[in-house]
Amino acid sequence: MGTCKRKIDCNSVAGGRKGERRKMSIVRFSISLDRDLVHKFDRKIKAERCPTRSKAVGDLIRAALVRTEWQAGEEVAGAIVLVYDHHKKDVLRKLTNVQHDCHESIISTQHIHLDHDNCLEIVAVRDKAAGIDAILRRLKAVKGLKHVSMAAGTTGSHLP
Ligand code: NI
Repeated sequence: MGTCKRKIDCNSVAGGRKGERRKMSIVRFSISLDRDLVHKFDRKIKAERCPTRSKAVGDLIRAALVRTEWQAGEEVAGAIVLVYDHHKKDVLRKLTNVQHDCHESIISTQHIHLDHDNCLEIVAVRDKAAGIDAILRRLKAVKGLKHVSMAAGTTGSHLP
């Protein structure tokens, strides 16, 4: 990676609403950062095979904006991942009850039989952040789960 003044190369075309394609309007700007911080960042994006520093910085900005969407209580989307032994008493029934109670916020559930005992369930959710947190809290409260985690995503409608 070069210095901060390296020319930013970005000719991407962004997809618009309903498949329309428009030319992305690009703004070039320079920022001043600690040299060691930049070197460390460049090593990280090289290791992650990120093609350009511009993409890496754009990804960080989008991630920050998604966090803001969650904090601001906007409608967001995400996926809750559950792992459990379906033989455990009542786990399946309790998980199903929660999902029926929250059906308006759950857009899809995928169930994968990992082996004889273990199941992986991916619950795709779309709601305001508080609604999704409420589902997550209820799912976490079910006894017998081996794993619960959430990928906090976005509907994408507020992001370029
Ligand atoms: Ni199963």
